[in-house]
Amino acid sequence: MLPETQESGSWIDDYRKKVVSVEEAMKVVNSLDRVYVHSNAAAPQVLLEGLVRRADQLTGVKIYQLLTLGKADYALAKYSNSFAVNSFFIGANVREAVNAGRADYIPVFLSEIPGLFMSGEIPLDVCLLQVSPPDAHGFCSYGVSVDCTIAARKKSRIVIAEVNKQMPRTLGRSFVHVSRLDYIVETDHPLPELASETGTAVEREIGANVATLIEDCATLQLGIGAIPNAVLANLQEKRNLGVHSEMLSDGVIDLIERGIVTNDAKTVLPGKVAVSFVMGSKRLYDFVDNNPLVEFQTSDYINDPFVISQNYKMTAINSALQVDVTGQIAADTIGNVLYSGFGGQVDFIRGAARAKDGKAIIALPSTAKGGKISRISAMLNPASGVVTSRADVHYVVTEYGIAQLSGKTLKQRAKALISIAHPDFRTEIASQCAAYSWY
Ligand code: COA
Repeated sequence: MLPETQESGSWIDDYRKKVVSVEEAMKVVNSLDRVYVHSNAAAPQVLLEGLVRRADQLTGVKIYQLLTLGKADYALAKYSNSFAVNSFFIGANVREAVNAGRADYIPVFLSEIPGLFMSGEIPLDVCLLQVSPPDAHGFCSYGVSVDCTIAARKKSRIVIAEVNKQMPRTLGRSFVHVSRLDYIVETDHPLPELASETGTAVEREIGANVATLIEDCATLQLGIGAIPNAVLANLQEKRNLGVHSEMLSDGVIDLIERGIVTNDAKTVLPGKVAVSFVMGSKRLYDFVDNNPLVEFQTSDYINDPFVISQNYKMTAINSALQVDVTGQIAADTIGNVLYSGFGGQVDFIRGAARAKDGKAIIALPSTAKGGKISRISAMLNPASGVVTSRADVHYVVTEYGIAQLSGKTLKQRAKALISIAHPDFRTEIASQCAAYSWY
């Protein structure tokens, strides 16, 4: 794991002293400790498996996490006396636990999570990381996920790092010196990958509609999932695009290689693809390895609406589970089912709305469950939470077109949104609107 040119030296000796087995490392976790888990594809699987093996010796360990790929066995019902998960974002591996009431959800803007750690509002005892091997100067890289990690690491009493030979060395504000780590567990395993979805016909139509809103020289934020990739596939004729986005997925690589994403017109971090984490295939992880084009920064910077708003033509594209006819966006719940989280949706929608010539776009299929449910409805389902308010959204896009909402009255919004609902539901939605006094 150590660079070949370095035999000894102060940080090398320090590194060697800190290397322990996963069993030894996990012994430092005590009952009632508050443990932060590195996020997304950087979730330290070997450390987490070691922690779960200690379940019968621990009670009431609180796990704080964002989205994590891979297993989260500590959330299983059989370990509920040992571990309690508090999640800032509900991923697939904790969704059942949160909806069963064993785990809990913290609704929060991604930009504000580092501040919760820095202020001590959420105190932490142990930080579990997965980092790259150290460089010649003793710096490991946080790799594919920088987002909230620096704040969590700084405020934890004990820092335990899985040093994975296969973690890319990403650049930017992405480094931690060996001296800041307390225990090191050396590993060598591939990172979990997220399949790049090719997209359905509906998603391709949505992508084509969104693409008509994207101007040359725009700076883009694209979220996760099939719709962002479908949008990217429709940008072949655009010029001089840039990227400032909390996350980056595979679709952007082709646009960079074809010279469509140049980052030249960007007004914040010009020349750079600015991100806080990446999730995708090995191709993406190899692309960001040692690549000065991609600047990793923390969530309190990348997702700060004020920073976002300084990008000329900032264009934010996010998705939703349900939209009511006034433009309220449900994105973390489906009725009383907790599904995902705020993530950076509001950060980017607000930032883009305030940017010079910016655009705040929500794109979603008009229906769910094989066409049985309309995602555009007169009212949100009972118990649905609003993630993005109706004052924030400029455009809602489905496969049936674009509803422009900014500056529009409630009646105009309802008309515009019904016109992009699936035709099978338009009459029904309009008749349900009669419940509104203003309709
Ligand atoms: N009623 C019932 N079921 C619904 C529904 C509705 N109104 N809307 C969606 N569903 C179902 C879908 O059918 C799907 O079920 P399935 O897996 O059984 O097919 C499931 O819910 C997920 O919907 P889908 O549209 O596939 O979700 P997605 O993966 O495209 O993600 C969000 C959409 C909104 C959950 C996601 O964009 C998100 O988490 N957003 C908030 C965070 C954010 O925007 N961050 C910034 C960018 S990273």
